[in-house]
Amino acid sequence: MVGIVMFHPQFLVAFILSNYLVCLLATAARNGGFTFELIRQDSLNTPFYNANKYYPNVPQSQISAYKGHHLMKVSIGTPPVDIYGIADTGSDLVWTQCVPCDGCYNQTNPMFDPQKSSTYSDISCQSEQCHLIDTGTCSPQNLCNYTYGYGSGSITQGVMAKEKVTITSTSGKTVSFDLAFGCGHNNTGTFNDQEMGIIGLGGGSVSLVSQLGSTFGSKRFSQCLLPFGTDPNIASKVSFGNGSEVVGSGVVSTPLVAKEDKTPYFVTLEGISVGQTYVPFNFSGKVSKGNMFLDSGTPPTLLPQNFYDRLVAEVQKQIPMDPIQDDPDLGTQLCYRTEINIHDNAPILTVHFEGADVLLTPIHSFIPPKDGVYCFGMQSFGNIDIGIYGNYAQANYLIGFDRETMRVSFKLIDCSKQ
Ligand SMILES: *[C@@H]1O[C@H](CO)[C@@H](O)[C@H](O)[C@H]1NC(C)=O
Ligand SMILES: *[C@@H]1O[C@H](CO)[C@@H](O)[C@H](O)[C@H]1NC(C)=O
Ligand SMILES: *[C@@H]1O[C@H](CO)[C@@H](O)[C@H](O)[C@H]1NC(C)=O
Ligand SMILES: *[C@@H]1O[C@H](CO)[C@@H](O)[C@H](O)[C@H]1NC(C)=O
Ligand SMILES: *[C@@H]1O[C@H](CO)[C@@H](O)[C@H](O)[C@H]1NC(C)=O
Repeated sequence: MVGIVMFHPQFLVAFILSNYLVCLLATAARNGGFTFELIRQDSLNTPFYNANKYYPNVPQSQISAYKGHHLMKVSIGTPPVDIYGIADTGSDLVWTQCVPCDGCYNQTNPMFDPQKSSTYSDISCQSEQCHLIDTGTCSPQNLCNYTYGYGSGSITQGVMAKEKVTITSTSGKTVSFDLAFGCGHNNTGTFNDQEMGIIGLGGGSVSLVSQLGSTFGSKRFSQCLLPFGTDPNIASKVSFGNGSEVVGSGVVSTPLVAKEDKTPYFVTLEGISVGQTYVPFNFSGKVSKGNMFLDSGTPPTLLPQNFYDRLVAEVQKQIPMDPIQDDPDLGTQLCYRTEINIHDNAPILTVHFEGADVLLTPIHSFIPPKDGVYCFGMQSFGNIDIGIYGNYAQANYLIGFDRETMRVSFKLIDCSKQ
């Protein structure tokens, strides 16, 4: 947290590292967005929500996979306008580009126009809602001006406003609620023209889920991220409140770790097995609680250098091929150029979270080919003690974030069948 601009994961807090992180993001995006087979196994065809029969009205938003990010649809305003924002469990603010623009990036859909909505209202800088965001300041017109930055270098500036948000439920009914959001009049960063803003799903007070609180029952939500390369017309779901619990056979769960920074969903990673070989997170000692957080806004999984080096050495040992050496574009990533499908030749990884073993098939752990090159979906995060569990690894898992029981649950399913 530095100065007036706060840096949030979608790429981490660590301001000093941001240039380094931008490189990682570029590499990840370049390797994202290619077709690969969905996992199809009988065990994946079990019904999605066992809880559905008890809760027929679970509020849900559509979510689809596009170029390294997952776009979530919400409708805002009256009449409602569809906004597709990056679903980001690593940050809090919900914002979209708004006219008039002092500086906006190009987007395909029209930008949100506050003047065309009868339910839009500015938030005054004295109001409690302005204090939800730490960087809210008073403009001469008494508006709540905000600046919100991300570790990737992206920044949005604008005014905090209140709007009616509409989403649909499993029964087809619509549900509405008021949300304080950022009307971004000056937005810069690494966005493509489908991304109209960011939907912050983190644990901080201004996030969508924190503002919802227990509106729909308990303080929980679940997401099922589609693998990149899935037909863009297929959408998966983010569900909120009662009925969004992840239950049934094959569910594993791990404690959420509360820390001073309320935004990230911290969990504890003990180690990762490569095939049958266990690689501990910390070779020399015990791991500290909350050494990893889940971030749907970051594509690769990022690990501390020392752990990454030991892990990659083991992965390499178990793949009977020579990795690509000395390609400056690929940097230190582990990549293979191969005609054959590496997914048949790479080991299964088991991610050992505290009390929960999560299997990653080679489809999760190797990013499908660009020009016949497959790259390992985990990268080094440098010499820091914390890691990020990225969105490649989260695909085809129904992941439940429960802030009442303080647990994260995982269930392997086919998200395209949701
Ligand atoms: C827009 O934001 C950029 C980056 O934060 C800043 O340099 C610039 O001065 C802003 N422009 C306006 C018109 O506020
Ligand atoms: C935005 O789109 C316009 C029209 O398609 C184009 O002229 C302009 O160069 C684009 N700007 C950026 C920053 O890509
Ligand atoms: C507040 O935000 C509005 C809209 O982005 C902008 O026009 C205005 O200059 C900002 N005021 C201050 C004091 O930053
Ligand atoms: C959520 O479920 C709990 C327990 O079943 C129930 O008491 C509560 O009324 C439900 N809330 C909503 C908003 O449906
Ligand atoms: C590993 O454990 C040592 C000793 O307990 C500790 O000082 C160090 O910070 C740990 N490293 C990581 C990456 O957790």
